[in-house]
Amino acid sequence: MPFYQRRGEVPRKRHIVFRENGRLLTEEVMGLEGFTGNESILYHLQSPCRVKELGAFTPIEREEWVPETHAHRRMNTYDVEPEGDEISGRRTLMWNSDVEISLCRPESSMDYFFRNGEGDEVIFVHEGSGTLETIFGDVPYKDGDYVVVPRGTTYRFVPQGPQRHLVFETPGLIEIPRRYRNQYGQILEGAPYYHRDIHPPTELATRRESGEFVVKVRVRGGVQDYVLDYHPFDVVGWDGFLYPWTFSIHDFEPITGRIHQPPPSHQTFQGPNFVICSFCPRHLDFDPEAVPIPYHHSNLQSEEMIYYVSGNFGSRKGISVGSITLHPSGLPHGPAPGLAEKALGVRETTELAVMCDTFRPLKLSALARDTDDGHYALSWYEPPSEDPDLAGVTSHL
Ligand SMILES: [Fe+2]
Repeated sequence: MPFYQRRGEVPRKRHIVFRENGRLLTEEVMGLEGFTGNESILYHLQSPCRVKELGAFTPIEREEWVPETHAHRRMNTYDVEPEGDEISGRRTLMWNSDVEISLCRPESSMDYFFRNGEGDEVIFVHEGSGTLETIFGDVPYKDGDYVVVPRGTTYRFVPQGPQRHLVFETPGLIEIPRRYRNQYGQILEGAPYYHRDIHPPTELATRRESGEFVVKVRVRGGVQDYVLDYHPFDVVGWDGFLYPWTFSIHDFEPITGRIHQPPPSHQTFQGPNFVICSFCPRHLDFDPEAVPIPYHHSNLQSEEMIYYVSGNFGSRKGISVGSITLHPSGLPHGPAPGLAEKALGVRETTELAVMCDTFRPLKLSALARDTDDGHYALSWYEPPSEDPDLAGVTSHL
């Protein structure tokens, strides 16, 4: 999506004869918005329609939790037990019709290929590294990376070491915020990242293997299995604007100001009716009279989910690595009692966090119920502590 790329061999023009060793290759146009959106063109050794066997269709089932009370919530997810692989181990935490947010701590690796046929994905890699092998080539990743995978991309995780992922899936498109781009698509001066921070697939490795290959495709609310008799990564070349890529949260350049900058300054991606933001270590507001933590706010049309990645969250009891806070719509929220006074003069934060704001209400899952600590809603009622630790103020509460 970010800019034109080409890997491997492609013919001189689109839609002309292209052979390898005398054999006519199969051209596939893979694109969005009915041939008017971004697209890539891939050249296959085999037809991408070639299916040897239809496997099972498995509906995706979720257990919804409808709490008895409407309240701010805090979930502690760090000790969630590993299960499944990088796909089957995704456990939905909250969702609406625009986005699904899942945790994944796989205990095994994929012995199949996967394609999301009905949604774009952003996988935030909290812990772990490895390679996302894709039909467009290898996409190396490491902790702190957002791995952006457009719908229709066939892929397989090849992890190195234990993994901890926060996964966003949307039936819409994951995009670089429109206000970061000019009319030609180039990322503007003043945006918090640039094209150099975006990492498309490295070299294309064309697979020429016959055998039995299972491809699981998420579609129509379930997963359909297909069996191919040829490796799905049989592409000898491709070009275009549609491909997977990574962006590291550590390459996000924080925007700071003399007085407090609002959450949109942290925006990293846009989706339909939601945004994904990155809160990174930075200097805080530098006006002598600045209050360097957020004002109380009522985002009347938004739900705010924050996942705490690393840093010092000592200013808020119960916030630790892997904690999630959910501030639902209809309620104001803000710093703990007394914290604004205590924070005056603090000049930096070491926090690292990922936030997803949605315009529509989020439903909660049984995993949210099981990890909810049940105490957060009343935390504003606590009297201020005598000497809160301000070494790393969590700047967005
Ligand atoms: Fe907030």
